[in-house]
Amino acid sequence: MKYADVYAAWQNAPEDFWLDQAKSIDWVKPPTQALDDSKAPLYRWFTDAEVNTCYNAVDRHVENGRADQAAIIYDSPITGTKSQITYAELKEKVASLAGALRDKGITKGDRVIVYMPMVPEALVAMLACARLGAIHSVVFGGFAAHELAVRIDDATPKAIIAASCGLEPGRIVPYKPLLDQAIEDATHKPDFTIILERPEHPYDLTPGYDFDWHEVQKGVTPADCVPVKGDHPAYILYTSGTTGAPKGVVRPTAGHLVALNWTMKAIYDVDPGDVFWAASDVGWVVGHSYICYAPLIHGNTTVVFEGKPVGTPDAGTFWRVIQEHNVRSFFTAPTAFRAIKRDDPKGEMIKDYDISCLRALYLAGERADPDTIEWAQRVMDVPVYDHWWQTETGYTIAGNPAGIEALPVKIGSPTVAMPGYDVQILDEAGHPMPSGELGAIAVKLPLPPGTLPTLWNAEERFVKSYLTTFPGYYETGDAGMIDEDGYLYIMARTDDVINVAGHRLSTGAMEEVLAAHPDVAECAVIGVSDALKGQLPMGFVCLNNGCERSHEDISKEVVARVRDQIGPVAAFKLVAVVDRLPKTRSGKILRGTMVKIADGQDFKMPATIDDPAILDEIEEALKPLGYAATG
Ligand code: COA
Ligand code: AMP
Repeated sequence: MKYADVYAAWQNAPEDFWLDQAKSIDWVKPPTQALDDSKAPLYRWFTDAEVNTCYNAVDRHVENGRADQAAIIYDSPITGTKSQITYAELKEKVASLAGALRDKGITKGDRVIVYMPMVPEALVAMLACARLGAIHSVVFGGFAAHELAVRIDDATPKAIIAASCGLEPGRIVPYKPLLDQAIEDATHKPDFTIILERPEHPYDLTPGYDFDWHEVQKGVTPADCVPVKGDHPAYILYTSGTTGAPKGVVRPTAGHLVALNWTMKAIYDVDPGDVFWAASDVGWVVGHSYICYAPLIHGNTTVVFEGKPVGTPDAGTFWRVIQEHNVRSFFTAPTAFRAIKRDDPKGEMIKDYDISCLRALYLAGERADPDTIEWAQRVMDVPVYDHWWQTETGYTIAGNPAGIEALPVKIGSPTVAMPGYDVQILDEAGHPMPSGELGAIAVKLPLPPGTLPTLWNAEERFVKSYLTTFPGYYETGDAGMIDEDGYLYIMARTDDVINVAGHRLSTGAMEEVLAAHPDVAECAVIGVSDALKGQLPMGFVCLNNGCERSHEDISKEVVARVRDQIGPVAAFKLVAVVDRLPKTRSGKILRGTMVKIADGQDFKMPATIDDPAILDEIEEALKPLGYAATG
């Protein structure tokens, strides 16, 4: 089979294509129809089916001969732990936790927030929710209490499942103060919490409210899988948008199962039984799709890695994990490789390991720069596949379908659109652009199964954010082009989202924090280039008239506020205090021009600029921060 044939088969009969893929899923009631377009432009898939995600990810493998196969390998260089959980053991653990949740009143449709580090119990918690038809919302551990509170108020969970702490190199992150603060700040109060106490840090349980992970499961009857409708939400995952209010991306159950299962062979080229490793975090979409769900649904072994690419203990950690656990396909973000390359530029450390088990490296989450791809190819001696996707889609929009046909790699391109996605480049008026020309990247509706049908409790925002600019299309928020061979190139975001170490962050959210400082009159946050993290946020603040306080103090305070309110993951450390911000005559801040100045790129003086002299002031303010050097 060739990629072009598969893509054409999908194009000719999209519903048959997905109904065919649906045969690989075990249904309580199989779908008779693929697409429900009765509410177009809102689409739903497999609505007349009934199914359970946990059954497909766990139970069916126990019943079909994989009981003794490792489902999860846990490798934590931070704690010095390595362990395995077979599919049979996973079923026991998940059914037991689900039983405890059920006994405490959690039923189908209830929301449960999961706030956990990279431990196997995070997956157990997600799957236990799925077993009951409860809707989990995992919150990344690097977010601050305020971000957790925002998610509590939006998802209104009945329960929170958390660990006592996360572990960062050289630093324990106690979760109790974060949880207490978040629950206090939130208007909605969850009924109870379940806490996994880690030996590295105790959790002071509040009797009657906080329940110990092990104690709460004592004597419970394991729970069975609860069938849900095909479009029942499997989970909500919050992601950054333009404002401080994150978007609750809803993942529909049946489409998620069908699509993720398809990707494991078609894109990652693994067969059931193979070991698959995504070095990310369960708090991100990569963690949801490729640490937890897809490998398990497909009968693979997944690796839960609690560590960093460097410093835990060194830049050889990835090679060790690949060798020791016989990893066949490996997925991470380019920033992880930039970190390894920085510590071990010649790739000496790989010589101590045998990674011949590895077939390919997959990169996503941010732009993969050519240097990093070439370095990884040279050092690892395997194909390196860039692929492009978003929290909203949950899996690849454009990639290299290596399990169907490995297409020639063009460095700088995540290759071609996957079946399910009719990707187009549009001009501002929504007309398709000729090949090779830059425009907004949009996907013709309907999006394929598993992609977001809506935003949690925010249908209007969903329509406005994604379906309004280009009627009939999903607006991706990325700009780029397609070349004459159909290869896609992702160039930049068209909104205020930036990408810091593969983490998607909103500059708008940071501006809200800066603007709330009592001495700040106005502000702007932009994303500037960074050799390691891809982008870093940089804040510009103008102070209130008459404010005599030291600029250094104010800078420190706004940095602390962002860390405190958004979290350490924002990596917000660069601040310039300036007299004025460059604006158009109508008062719009010229953020794009500021980015170009900071990055030392040539730029055209915007015709609508109010006062060009301000740009020189900006350039001067950037120099002490180490930016605008060649500007
Ligand atoms: N809990 C608490 N804090 C966290 C955290 C978590 N789960 N994850 C990160 N942080 C903190 C870090 O400790 C750091 O704090 P600091 O400012 O006190 O040093 C801060 O958030 C920024 O973290 P990060 O951006 O990850 O930077 P880093 O310097 O710790 O590590 C890399 C840099 C490149 C090694 C790291 O970002 C990485 O491994 N990235 C892989 C990318 C990835 O997994 N992307 C997911 C999508 S595929
Ligand atoms: P997230 O929702 O966190 O996965 O972030 C999605 C965004 O990250 C996309 O809209 C892109 O801006 C960016 N992104 C993800 N993968 C790639 C890639 N392979 N190349 C370029 N940008 C990417």
